[in-house]
Amino acid sequence: MLRNLISATVTAVSVLSIGGLAQAQETVKIGLIVPMTGGQASTGQQINNAIKLYQQKNGDTVAGKKVEIILKDDAALPDNTKRLAQELIVNEKVNIIAGFGVTPAALAAAPLATQAKVPEIVMAAGTSIITERSPYIVRTSFTLAQSSTIIGDWAAKNGIKKVATLTSDYAPGNDALQFFKEHFTAGGGEIVEEVKVPLANPDFAPFLQRMKDSKPDAVFVFVPAGQGGNFMKQYAERGLDKSGIKVIGPGDVMDDDLLNNMGDAALGAVTAHLYSAAHPSAMNKEFVAAYKKAYNTRPGFMAVGGWDGIHLVYEALKKTGGKADGDSLIAAMKGMKWESPRGPISIDPETRDIVQNIYIRKVEKVDGELYNIEFATFEAVKDPGKTKK
Ligand code: PHB
Repeated sequence: MLRNLISATVTAVSVLSIGGLAQAQETVKIGLIVPMTGGQASTGQQINNAIKLYQQKNGDTVAGKKVEIILKDDAALPDNTKRLAQELIVNEKVNIIAGFGVTPAALAAAPLATQAKVPEIVMAAGTSIITERSPYIVRTSFTLAQSSTIIGDWAAKNGIKKVATLTSDYAPGNDALQFFKEHFTAGGGEIVEEVKVPLANPDFAPFLQRMKDSKPDAVFVFVPAGQGGNFMKQYAERGLDKSGIKVIGPGDVMDDDLLNNMGDAALGAVTAHLYSAAHPSAMNKEFVAAYKKAYNTRPGFMAVGGWDGIHLVYEALKKTGGKADGDSLIAAMKGMKWESPRGPISIDPETRDIVQNIYIRKVEKVDGELYNIEFATFEAVKDPGKTKK
């Protein structure tokens, strides 16, 4: 009797644990850590929207595994990112961490990714150094060096001689400034003023007032996604749009989700970037239409980083036959190539960073709406920040 009871209990326990194990193996968990509140909230919202849309279109099961997203808001504060990444890895046993709206957040999670051998998919942050901080980091966003080198060359070749720079005072702003400056001055251009503004609640007014007086040919602007609308509002309020001072930069300042509300002051701004909602491919037209239908707003470049990030995970799982350990996934991701709404992209197998086209675009009005219209393409651009070591 006692023996029967013990053996029944043992059987029940082992059935339970096998059941638990099978279930754990059938779900691939992704901890999505992004800013959903605070100054960078539009980044998290775009990424989360795009991932939801991707799963609606492609289903939430791939290679026999259910892909579960666990969304966490870090408000772009790296101490939060680190705590959330730790909790997700240790308690939730996530297979992957993803998102990272700003560089300090991506860097804060890097040692945890290495220690736990958990892939860290960077879908937003853009400082070159990030992918060098862990062999488990793969990036589907961009680097500021990719776009800033190209706009630096373009400006020097297109009659712009004197430029004042305004950059957000943290790592990606410093990359943007450094790479722009190197290329613009090598082409004969001159930097007449350099101003850095804080990441949180920047005030552009003193800079803009000085620009009005000193009249450079152009202002080179890097502000992170979400801040371009405020910059352009102040630029227009001070009448700089009428003074002939051009806005140039990486495309972050002309983000598609904000562009249409900037008004005509934005017309003529020339930026180099990875994505425009007006990119004329069939895939992008479908992507923009589906995103607008679901969220009643245009996707910006952060949405595309999220879309491609989840696509990368799905394709890697197909390649590993559903094996979801970090080493198998990273090996599968290296060298992967696909068509994105932004155009053709791949993951550099050496650096795990994104290789993508960079387009030069000019803001124009099409059917009454403002768009970044692409007019030149630089194909398969690797991160120039990697070769500078
Ligand atoms: C970053 O923090 O790396 C970052 C954030 C937003 C951008 C670009 C870079 O638009």
